Amino acid sequence: MDRRERELIEKLSDKGSLSIEDYEQLIVLRDDEAKDLLALLATQKRKAIFGNAIYTRGLIEISSICKNNCMYCGIRRDNINAERYRLSKEEILTCADEGYELGFRTFVLQGGEDAFFSDDVLCDIVASLKKDHPDCAVTLSMGERSRESYKALYESGADRYLLRHETADRAHYEMLHPKDMSFDNRMRCLTDLKDIGYQVGCGFMVGSPFQTAKTLAQDLFFIKQFKPDMCGIGPFIPHHSTPFKDEAKGSLELTLFLLSVIRLMQPDILLPATTALGSIDPKGREKGILAGANVVMPNLSPVSVRKKYELYDNKICTGEESAQCRECLDKRMEAIGCRLVVDRGDAPRTKGQN
Ligand code: 5AD
Ligand code: FES
Repeated sequence: MDRRERELIEKLSDKGSLSIEDYEQLIVLRDDEAKDLLALLATQKRKAIFGNAIYTRGLIEISSICKNNCMYCGIRRDNINAERYRLSKEEILTCADEGYELGFRTFVLQGGEDAFFSDDVLCDIVASLKKDHPDCAVTLSMGERSRESYKALYESGADRYLLRHETADRAHYEMLHPKDMSFDNRMRCLTDLKDIGYQVGCGFMVGSPFQTAKTLAQDLFFIKQFKPDMCGIGPFIPHHSTPFKDEAKGSLELTLFLLSVIRLMQPDILLPATTALGSIDPKGREKGILAGANVVMPNLSPVSVRKKYELYDNKICTGEESAQCRECLDKRMEAIGCRLVVDRGDAPRTKGQN
């Protein structure tokens, strides 16, 4: 590691932010030594705030039907090979009941942009879920909606919303999405969500096609400004039935590096070691935690639909039952000196607010 890289890491660790140019340089100059130092500093900050606790969220993939055609995604509209499904309200509530027994206190309802889930339908599901489990947080990850819709869902009890910004660079955004999607609308959604009062998660894929050190620097700068409660980052993994099928997958090493950087930028952030990270390396999620992540999001979807929610190839946990994943993660976390906690896992600064 050269002197300049060390200087940048120290500045980041002390001040929690760098200029866009400095983020870019930090990324370009990185080597193994820099990566190790960042991971050490990042896990120190994680432990100072969260101890050895790892938060967990139960992910329920409620629909693989999507009106959008994002170039990278396996459930894009034009993928005629994708098997489509939609869970009923009863199925969703049953997944949550099962999850509750397993110790989950946050449920993430994620799905494609499926018109079936109108405000009325989704509000009813959220309200029922909250009524069944008042001590749990409900997170939605259902894509772009109107401000009114986000507001209605919030009022029906949703606590959090995950909407990855995907890239903070407009031109890059346009290379990843078809013309009928817009960078401005994505940003509008994120602003509305925050404004309404949600705990909000943004995020991006590492190694998405056309990504550069410069666009990554813009992502970091955006995160610093936006101050999300959560940030989901995982490697891009090509899906065989998408326009990006022949693109290279994102790197484990760069993902870990960026997890550490984000932890140093915002020490109390909720940072998941994602399924995509676990899918490119058998120990990916453990490595993510050891780089500064503090959340895992195992799958609670019915086993019968898991293979159909295929955003990318070789996704893990598509054959396992929810209880198996819970047990598996317990062991994995224990093996690295951490423990999964039975807790809603709110961001420290929002704790007790709802
Ligand atoms: N590889 C990795 N992550 C992907 N996502 C979608 N497609 C892929 C892929 N091929 C991510 C996007 C989206 C989230 C739900 O999954 O960032 O926001
Ligand atoms: Fe699903 Fe390990 S987390 S099998």
